[in-house]
Amino acid sequence: MRHFLQENDFSKDEVKSIFASAFELKACRSQRPSNDLKGGSWGMMFYKQSTRTRVSFEVGIRELGGNPVILDQSSTQIGRGESIADTARVLSRFLDGLIIRTHGHEIIEEFAKSSQIPVVNALTDLLHPCQIYADCMTLLEKLSGGMNPFEGLKGKKLAFYGDTSCNMANSWILAGAIFDMEISLCGPEDFQPSQEIQSLLQKGHLSPTWSFTTDPNHASLNADVVYTDVWVSMGCEADSQGRLEAMKPYQVNETILEAAKKESIFMHCMPAHPGEEVSQAVLDSDQAILFDQAENRLHMQKAILAALSKFNSLK
Ligand code: CP
Repeated sequence: MRHFLQENDFSKDEVKSIFASAFELKACRSQRPSNDLKGGSWGMMFYKQSTRTRVSFEVGIRELGGNPVILDQSSTQIGRGESIADTARVLSRFLDGLIIRTHGHEIIEEFAKSSQIPVVNALTDLLHPCQIYADCMTLLEKLSGGMNPFEGLKGKKLAFYGDTSCNMANSWILAGAIFDMEISLCGPEDFQPSQEIQSLLQKGHLSPTWSFTTDPNHASLNADVVYTDVWVSMGCEADSQGRLEAMKPYQVNETILEAAKKESIFMHCMPAHPGEEVSQAVLDSDQAILFDQAENRLHMQKAILAALSKFNSLK
């Protein structure tokens, strides 16, 4: 069974075809619904809050001719201790696919191991691959890079500010290695990428293309893209005061954006916290493309679901 748990789960040819399909689905959205999911039912299990991911998947499944089944952890028997293995086996008897947002990456891996249906990562503490694919699509649009990410993103520099140990930074580390981008990470010494992401690179035979600096004036020099994410990720609330204090020097503001290329763009996966990780002026600037990023979640995820349905020959 083919799943999408991390950015390098698809081959190079598959990635090219998924990106082409996302652009096509965006262009022909008025012709929805399609029949790519053939009336199949796709579960959406969310252990954490979500606005963009949840709505874009639910709408996307409907637009592909499928039926979304919303399952939140607290209202299923998982909330009362039923094992992941049993839950995955049972859901495989009812559903055609399962989209999961959860905490530890090992949880989604365990679901995938026991499922006879494709599992899609809608965010774990380690990675956020659907967001990254959609962001890469948005970058191709903004940089006039065509539809092939291996060509259009090659050599581009992305500077990531703030918590460089978070799932978005990890996902950019993987995407940078896949698409041959330069990833310049910038944040406090104590929030650097973990050994886990470095092991993922090694396991995937991917060469690292990232560097780390604590100097906020250095990372964005000559960057094509400046990116940030919240300083207090879901699950890190207990340490919010310490995090807010440590990351203060790494707010993306006009000075940081001015050091980047003149035509650079500012990206954020949202939700944004103006005055924390990004200044209001940067959010209001023409360089900010947050809403285009959010919209492309829909088109890209439809392409991913249609591809998984095809790769797994779902009836
Ligand atoms: N970017 C993102 O995943 O947004 P949500 O948490 O609202 O789904």
